[in-house]
Amino acid sequence: MKIERTLVLVKPDAVQRGLVGDIISRFEHKGMKISALRMLMVSSELAKKHYGEHEGKDFYKGLVNFIRAGPLVAMIVEGDGAIAVVRKMVGSTNPKDALPGTIRHDFSIHTGRNLIHASDSAKSAEREITLFFDIDEIIEYEKNEETWVYEK
Ligand code: RTP
Ligand code: MG
Repeated sequence: MKIERTLVLVKPDAVQRGLVGDIISRFEHKGMKISALRMLMVSSELAKKHYGEHEGKDFYKGLVNFIRAGPLVAMIVEGDGAIAVVRKMVGSTNPKDALPGTIRHDFSIHTGRNLIHASDSAKSAEREITLFFDIDEIIEYEKNEETWVYEK
């Protein structure tokens, strides 16, 4: 078992469409732990840092504007192999390619309105968690259900 933390952003389109609860529920139902959670308006600086790897691409400006178009919900999702598991639950970048049962497939159609971000590697997760949360905002706690989620 390898407990990992990953950064999830419930993007402004999901907030506007009233999908915050449904998206959080997916991770709860999977048996994952939410170890930090907050709603915020992303600053221009934070948007540029977060999406720095895409600077120069044709969709970059639209992406930075979109992520700042309204409040989003940032959270840290924790669990065994959480980085890969959450990416799988999120689905392909283009919702038209995403498999049924994934969040992007089930609730979205366009790449530029794909509802959710999730860290794509351990390195990204560490970097992105630090961008969105101070260390004292990450809560360590026991969940009583864990013995019913993990064999050991
Ligand atoms: P994310 O970072 O948001 O979790 O998404 P991702 O890893 O699946 O995709 P990534 O390549 O990192 O792209 C980041 C976000 O940029 C928008 N995008 N638009 N128009 C386009 O071709 C295009 N490609 C990417 C999407 O909102 C994508 O989630
Ligand atoms: Mg990405």
